[in-house]
Amino acid sequence: MSESPEQAARRVFGARAAFYGASKCHTDPAVLGRVVELAAPQPDWTVLDVGTGTGHTAFALAPHVASVVAVDITPEMLAEAERLCAARNVDNVTFRLADAHAIPFDDGVFDLVTCRRAAHHFSNLLEALHEMRRALKPGGRLLIDDRSGPEDAAADAIMNRLDRYHDESHVRQYRPSRWRAMLEALGFAVEAVEPYVRHRPISALTGDVSEENIAAIYALLDSLTSDRRAIFDLREINGELHLNHWYVIITAHKA
Ligand SMILES: C[S@@+](CC[C@H](N)C(=O)[O-])C[C@H]1O[C@@H](n2cnc3c(N)ncnc32)[C@H](O)[C@@H]1O
Repeated sequence: MSESPEQAARRVFGARAAFYGASKCHTDPAVLGRVVELAAPQPDWTVLDVGTGTGHTAFALAPHVASVVAVDITPEMLAEAERLCAARNVDNVTFRLADAHAIPFDDGVFDLVTCRRAAHHFSNLLEALHEMRRALKPGGRLLIDDRSGPEDAAADAIMNRLDRYHDESHVRQYRPSRWRAMLEALGFAVEAVEPYVRHRPISALTGDVSEENIAAIYALLDSLTSDRRAIFDLREINGELHLNHWYVIITAHKA
């Protein structure tokens, strides 16, 4: 029997917890700063961070709110988050093992729910978003930051294939237009949709990946037409191939 995305996430992230704790990509202060700005946290707020990993988003929000509860499905990621929390003397963040598809809290308890760089791992994103909405107070805010794709449908499909070769727990990342449609269909009022792009070295895709999947990544990139190479901005910089990675930050409130 093949493994579920949740089993794959535990396997992949269980082995990468130390890496994520120190990951430059996940601690990028410009992105975390923008996340905090768009979340517009208030001192009396109670926050839920879903798919917290090693807690970077929870730690960025903690100084601005009353408390943060941070959940994740991978025990090793939470253990690393707890270690970082103690090392930084953060006293208003607590961690709990939980699946985004079954959030273990009552309806309407959180002022803000955040989910950063995790939604593309969920086996049923709509169900997970429904859970996040349920846990929010009426009028409460949702903030998503996730991997995304270009609006060109074929390039979007290629990016998803590249990411699956990189990370076997990758399910799907969505273009900004799809995010807006999904959130509105679930009863959220979308406030802001901010796509952003990072031009990253090929090692961001091939690092820590099997030889078979590295070969598949290069074969897929070699097969790109010149139009698609332009969308990916595929070119060598200082002897290393670089290509675009797409992201999106979205805020919405429970209408
Ligand atoms: C890239 S890391 C998260 C990064 C983190 N949110 C941050 O801001 O730095 C993705 C996390 O999603 C978690 N995850 C994957 N599927 C999940 C699920 N169904 N429920 C909860 N967490 C999940 C993984 O265990 C992993 O820790």
